[in-house]
Amino acid sequence: MAIERTFSMIKPDATRRNLTGAITAKLEAAGLRVVAAKRVWMSRKQAEGFYAVHKGKPFYDELVDFMSSAPTVVQVLEGENAIARNREVMGATNPEKAADGTIRKEFALSMGENSVHGSDAPETAAAEIAYWFSETEIVG
Ligand code: PPS
Repeated sequence: MAIERTFSMIKPDATRRNLTGAITAKLEAAGLRVVAAKRVWMSRKQAEGFYAVHKGKPFYDELVDFMSSAPTVVQVLEGENAIARNREVMGATNPEKAADGTIRKEFALSMGENSVHGSDAPETAAAEIAYWFSETEIVG
C-alpha cells in the first residue's frame, strides 16, 4: 500500500476539554504522521461549506452550530493506508458503538460531540485537505 494522506479534525468538544495532545498521541501511535496542523475557530459559513454534503439532514443545523462553537484543530495525516487507519483509530460515529481503544470510545460524548472527524475516501480526503490547507502548509 502506498503512502496516503487523509484529513483529520479534532472537534470543539475535545478542544474544550484540552484533549488535543491526547488525541494526537493516539493518531501517532496508530502510525499516522501529522504533516500539517492548525487551530481554527471556524465561522458558520465555513462549517456550512465543509458539511454541505449533509445539508437537509435532521442534524445539519446542530452540527453547524456545534462545529462553529469553539476552536477545532485541523490536520493532515500521512501514513500507509492512512484513510482506513485513521477511521479505525477514531472508532464508530456513535461512541456507544465504538470499539475499545478507539478515540471515540475513550473521549466522545455523543453522536454529534464525537471528538474527531476523518475523511472516508480518497476523493473526500483530497477535497477536505484542500478546503483547509494550501500545498505549501503541508510539510511531509
Ligand atoms: S450519515 O447521514 O450517515 O452520512 O451521517 P453520519 O456519517 O452518521 O454523520 C455525519 C456527521 O454528522 C454528525 N452527526 C451529528 N451531529 C449532531 N447531531 C447528531 N444527531 C448527529 N448525527 C451525526 C457526525 O458526528 C458526523 O460528523 P463527521 O465530522 O462527519 O464525523
